[in-house]
Amino acid sequence: MELGKAYKFFLDHIHGLMVINKAGNVVYMNRQCADYIKVDLVSSIGKYVTDVFPPSNMQNLLTGNKRVNSNFYFADGRMSFSMQVQLREGDAIVGVLEYDLIQDVDALEDFVAKYTKILAEERKTYREQLRNLRRTNYSIGDLIGSSPKMIELKNRIMQAATTNSTVVITGETGTGKELVAHSIHNLSARTFGNFIKINAAGFPESLAESEFFGYEEGAFTGAKKGGKKGKFELADAGTLFIDEINQMPLPLQPKILRALQEREIDRVGGGESVHIDVRIIAASNRDLAELVREGSFREDLFYRLNVLPICIPPLRERKEDLPELVMDKVVKLNLELGKNIIYVDDAVYGRLRDHDWPGNVRELHNAIEQAMNYAEGDTLRVEYFNLRIDNSRLDLSKLSSFENPIEAIKREAERKLINEILAMFDGNRSKTADYLKISRPLLYQKMARLGIKTVK
Ligand SMILES: Nc1ncnc2c1ncn2[C@@H]1O[C@H](COP(=O)(O)OP(=O)(O)OP(=O)(O)O)[C@@H](O)[C@H]1O
Ligand SMILES: [Mg+2]
Repeated sequence: MELGKAYKFFLDHIHGLMVINKAGNVVYMNRQCADYIKVDLVSSIGKYVTDVFPPSNMQNLLTGNKRVNSNFYFADGRMSFSMQVQLREGDAIVGVLEYDLIQDVDALEDFVAKYTKILAEERKTYREQLRNLRRTNYSIGDLIGSSPKMIELKNRIMQAATTNSTVVITGETGTGKELVAHSIHNLSARTFGNFIKINAAGFPESLAESEFFGYEEGAFTGAKKGGKKGKFELADAGTLFIDEINQMPLPLQPKILRALQEREIDRVGGGESVHIDVRIIAASNRDLAELVREGSFREDLFYRLNVLPICIPPLRERKEDLPELVMDKVVKLNLELGKNIIYVDDAVYGRLRDHDWPGNVRELHNAIEQAMNYAEGDTLRVEYFNLRIDNSRLDLSKLSSFENPIEAIKREAERKLINEILAMFDGNRSKTADYLKISRPLLYQKMARLGIKTVK
């Protein structure tokens, strides 16, 4: 195709293309444009733009410093979206060119839907990054409480931070094991290295090894090209936090032991061993020594790990920390929930002291958050709290005459218990099952039977 023809051919394919000169008269319009706005192409040339197409506003760009303008307009009842561009020769405005980006609403809806999705995904990524950032920035200052037991704990943490020895943190659920692990890492010389977390109970046995140690390319079907680093390697020069180590699959235990002893790991399907420089912090909500006696944890691994044991006391053994914990949480929630609580009724502390806190600080935080949601004014009152109270009197009126009363009461008690424990763990079912000492599938069965749903 000869060049001039080729250019015309290209121009014909731009949607809604129209050009006016500095007087506002149409000097060029392509066929597509004329058809779209339903005007006669030949007789339009030379006429003032709004005589050709009354809704036009492209002539406004003939003056002023705005060089481009985006524009919504209606043609024949269809919404369109166009770009207008000032045509300049040197500094002089010689005309305006307009072309359409979108010629009907359907396409626009498509565009908006796609864009909204991208924005939503971006927002999600940022939120996750923010959460990770906040998580890894946990430090000893976030550990609230100045009871003698907490002071002792903080001293142990500072001691642990000065060494490279392996730490085992034990404590009931919600006592702050993860917080303590972060604090040790952040106070230690490894603070500029990575803090990598892995949950020993988080993978089926078949996957656990490659999660810990990584794998080489072609190690198994579905293995990624170039292989993949395991958590040990990712934590090189940093800290590896092994959560729920009590649930580490037995067959994996000798391999972990070797990694600790030799400071070397073998990738799955791998050639050479990789040297690693990793500090291990492990956490358990069961006493590991007891598991060794039961035979579900290797004794040699236990001794390797248990160099610096740190035991976090349950909240019920340091109730003098309650006021500090409450105030700290209240201040944070004021910001999050837009409340303005300045005082806490003495009766609240009375009630909180009466409670045993099996879910420890996590349960306390949840209880305060729930109460804060009801709270009005500047004082947190006891009636906003919905703590488990011993229901020694039964409400007999609720029993249906069709059911076996004993079964009905049992079922109701079971439902309440499961609901409460779920709430205690923010809906986390595997932790709930663990706490209730039943298997996860059995918990699912019970939830289905009792009609319990969780958000997560
Ligand atoms: N002393 C404390 N001061 C302030 N916040 C705390 C304290 N202890 C725990 N928390 C908070 O309680 C929640 C639970 O803590 P964390 O996740 O560390 O518990 P955990 O011992 O790992 O529990 P689990 O065994 O259930 O995993 C977190 O939100 C944590 O920030
Ligand atoms: Mg934890």
